[in-house]
Amino acid sequence: MDPITNPFSPGAGVYPPELVGREDVLRRAQLLIDRVRAGRPEKSILLTGLRGVGKTVLLSEVKRRAAEAGYHALMVEAPEQSGLVQNLTPQLRTLLLELDRGAAVNAQVRRALGALKAFASAVRVSYGGLNVNLDFDSEPGIADSGNLEADLADLFVAVSQAASARDSRVALLIDEMQYLSELELRSLTMAMHRLQQEGLPLVLVGAGLPTLPGLAGRARSYAERLFDYPSIGPLPIREAAQAVERPLQVAGVQIDAAALAEIFRLTQGYPYFLQEWAYQVWNRAHDSPIGLESVHAATPMVIQRLDEGFFRVRFDRLTRGERRYLRAMAELPGPERTTGRVAEILGFHVTSMGPTRAHLINKGMVFSPEHGLLEFTVPLFDDFMRRMMPTLTG
Ligand SMILES: Nc1ncnc2c1ncn2[C@@H]1O[C@H](COP(=O)(O)OP(=O)(O)O)[C@@H](O)[C@H]1O
Ligand SMILES: [Mg+2]
Repeated sequence: MDPITNPFSPGAGVYPPELVGREDVLRRAQLLIDRVRAGRPEKSILLTGLRGVGKTVLLSEVKRRAAEAGYHALMVEAPEQSGLVQNLTPQLRTLLLELDRGAAVNAQVRRALGALKAFASAVRVSYGGLNVNLDFDSEPGIADSGNLEADLADLFVAVSQAASARDSRVALLIDEMQYLSELELRSLTMAMHRLQQEGLPLVLVGAGLPTLPGLAGRARSYAERLFDYPSIGPLPIREAAQAVERPLQVAGVQIDAAALAEIFRLTQGYPYFLQEWAYQVWNRAHDSPIGLESVHAATPMVIQRLDEGFFRVRFDRLTRGERRYLRAMAELPGPERTTGRVAEILGFHVTSMGPTRAHLINKGMVFSPEHGLLEFTVPLFDDFMRRMMPTLTG
């Protein structure tokens, strides 16, 4: 079929032709948006799930809905080497300057701009390397203590008051939240706590790997009262079929049940893989209805693309020791991936493997769903490891 009109959209954060199977979590997010707009308190939402399940796409959708509901919405990604604040400040500046436009000068907006400037210079002193052009006067006494916990809360209060003064609200979308440092997470939690106490209109929706609830809980014991953690998983068979079938229908193309079943078997319903397979199948297929043979023809190409892209970018960042550790994990079926068994396969004592495991967790490659157990953060990564390293010593 014509590759130019291919409706599928493989790629990190790329909006799918059909956002299927996420109605519940979107309803939950809409409720948060509507309640905060009505001046009512509501828990923030932190989406958790493996790579490629569609978290970033959901954040974009929530951002769109917030904007539709009259919010000023901004989305940031937590950088792997901590520095959320550096990413957030320029965007908050843009937001405040937007609020500052149009109508007569507003004291609250001016005050928030001053708070942002004070914050930025306090942060520059404490953490270094912040480059934003802030050509307005800073506001002494707000957000300038140099203590991130206190300052971020002050800043959020000032920003949401500024939005209120313009009859608007703020929605903050934070992606890759597992990369926040403990201090950043603690400060964010603290800030949300204060906003809730003061009934101020700022909505937070975040996304991260399944380690996130544990990290947030460690940062602040009351995190569980502030945040809900809906888990975003692979799509069940019906929804997975819809994700492929509906965009095809729109294009006037049919697909066999057998072809759909094979796509589901290969992708296990993971959205990223569904898009990759459907994309290649479209390019391979000659006519409608698309049959099983087109899926068979596309599969080697898909696997090659995944191996060179989605999987590879993660693999390339690993040391030899880390690769061997992951390869040993791939020897075991999911429920048997314990730290003890992995160490045993590698012929080491479990305690001596601690640092390797910790690095893999920090790099966002593995996580511990329960004590002693390990899981890959990338679906189907075990198959990839076996392809890359046919033997344990490979
Ligand atoms: N609900 C969905 N239905 C179909 N495709 C989806 C869905 N959610 C995400 N996708 C697709 O999956 C891929 C990964 O989405 P992304 O948001 O980057 O995942 P994550 O942020 O969890 O790694 C993208 O190609 C996107 O188009
Ligand atoms: Mg993402």
